Order: sequence, then structure tokens, then C-alpha cells
Amino acid sequence: MINKIKEHIEEAKAFTTEDKTTLEEFRIKYLGSKGLLKDFFAEFKNVPNEQKKEFGQVVNELKNTAEEKVKSIQELLESKTESINLFGDLSRPGNPINIGSRHPISLVKNQILDVFSTIGFNVSEGPEIEDDWHNFTALNLPEYHPARDMQDTFFIQTNPDVLLRTHTSSVQVRYMENNKPPIRTISPGRVFRNEAISSRSHCIFHQVEGLYIDKNVSFADLKQTLLYFTKEMFGKSKIRLRPSYFPFTEPSAEVDIYWGLKTETDYRITKGTGWLEIMGCGMVDPNVLKNCGIDPNEYTGYAFGMGIERIAMLLYQIGDIRMFYENDVRFLEQFKSSL
Ligand code: PHE
Repeated sequence: MINKIKEHIEEAKAFTTEDKTTLEEFRIKYLGSKGLLKDFFAEFKNVPNEQKKEFGQVVNELKNTAEEKVKSIQELLESKTESINLFGDLSRPGNPINIGSRHPISLVKNQILDVFSTIGFNVSEGPEIEDDWHNFTALNLPEYHPARDMQDTFFIQTNPDVLLRTHTSSVQVRYMENNKPPIRTISPGRVFRNEAISSRSHCIFHQVEGLYIDKNVSFADLKQTLLYFTKEMFGKSKIRLRPSYFPFTEPSAEVDIYWGLKTETDYRITKGTGWLEIMGCGMVDPNVLKNCGIDPNEYTGYAFGMGIERIAMLLYQIGDIRMFYENDVRFLEQFKSSL
């Protein structure tokens, strides 16, 4: 009899369940009003005296074991239901994490910087809030110069000396002031112009400007660099330079790339010509070099500048510049990339 009770103790110790009904069956089997323990206690009077002590001990042990088991499993099951009510079912798999993607402006900017870094250009950055000198005067745009009107400027407060930069040429001025030639630098950044917002233009956009200054830098160097860039960036190997005007370069030119007329879209974006304007460029005006502490008799250089949005719109066929600033995830999610 004692051995049988001991077996029951082992069995009760090993018992486990996550189910309330099974637990209740276990409870009834041992502790119920018609349960095993009741029988064992009733048996007590028939046990020979010399065994009574041991018998009492094992029956009590079985009782305690069964009671503790019921109590601990009950608590466990309750705490589970509680946490499901509080936090939802914690054992369920989690929601998948939505991995973000780089903004198309950053993607294109990084691509441009990559191309120029392979030919020795470093990256320079400067403040978005500028003074008149760095944004205009040093760039050969003195006060009352008519070309200032080309860049409708946001002034901060009423002080005409504090403004939002209208181009990242201001960074080039700062770079020339603080570094000796040879200079090869690319200045990406956000720029601001007080323009009406439409599908083609915005009052905030991004530029990448390049500057190269050394002895004997020529227009041919500029053209070759731009050709290399368009080949790497767009896979196109035909460019043309049209005479243009910028106060800070002389001579100046607009750069067109031959995009081709293979598809309907090619027709649309090149207005049927096959050619696409992508940037402005020129030889740095000697006055600008002088303003920045570089001797124009010893050094020459070239500069160029392009709008990142324009290039991103081209590459990704985006029809409206405002898409870049709306942060609509349905738009942004289309640019998953490792860059
Ligand atoms: N800074 C000019 C602009 O914002 C671009 C440019 C840069 C043109 C360098 C020529 C040389 O339009």
C-alpha cells in the first residue's frame, strides 16, 4: 500500500498541463470528495500500528504534493490569461518590422558623390543660413547687380545680410577661403529660392556643385570631367555645351546630354529634341578667385552646379517635384536600395 502511494506521489509531481479541464480532473482524482486521498485516509484505521507512522507521512506528502501542484498550475494559467488580456497574446509571433529606405534625393546625391570621388573630389558642406558675402558678393555679384534677381532670395528677419543660401556656391567660397589649391571639392546641400511651387519648381531643393582649382586648369579639363560624369551617371556618352552666363564664371555654359529619342518618354522629357539640360558650368571668374584669396595669375579653375531633384526626376521618371517633400510612404517605399 505504501509503495502504491509513493508511486502516486511521483505521478503527481510529474503532472503538468496547460489546460484547465485536465487540471480539474487531476484535482478531482486526488483531492475530490471521492478522490484517492479520501480513500487513503479512510484506510488509515486498517493499517497495522507499526506502519501507521510511515503511512500517515506518505499520505500527507501525497496530499501536499497534489495541493501544491493544483495551486501552482492554477496560478500559471491565470497569469497567462492576465497577460493576454493586458498585452495581447505574448506567445504570438511579432509584427514584421518595416525596414525604411533612403530618400530618392539621398540616393541620387550619393551616386553623384560616388562618381566624383573616383576622380579625387572630396565633399564639403556649409551653413544653410548664409551672409551676403558668401552667397553673393564674393561670387562677383555685388550689391545692385541685376543677376541677384535671378535668385529670389529669402532673407531672415529684416537684415539683408542674413539669408537662406540660394546655391551651394557659397560653400565653394568658404572652401577657397580656408584651403590652398589644388582644390577638388564637391558641395552637396539644400538651397532656397522664393519661387512659386509647381510640379517643376519648389522653393526648397538640392544642389551638387563642383570646384576644381589648380595650375593650368582649362575648359577642356572641365568638358572631359563632365563627359566622364555623364557616362558614369547616366550611361550616356554625348554632351554639348551651350554658351550661357553666370556672374561667377567666365566663360560660362549650360551642359546638355544627348538622351536619345527611343521611347515616348524620351520624346516627352526632351521636348522632341533628344537633348536634356542638366547643369551650369564655367571657368571660375578671376574676380572670384581674388575675393577668396587665390592668385588668379597663378591658378585657374572650373566650377559646375546641378539640381539633384531634376536628375532624380529624370532617372526615376518622377513627374512632380512636390513628391519629394510630401513623405508619402507609398512613394518612398519604391526606392529600397542598399546605397
Ligand atoms: N550656382 C549656379 C546656380 O545655382 C550653378 C553654377 C555653379 C553654374 C557653378 C556655374 C558654375 O544656378
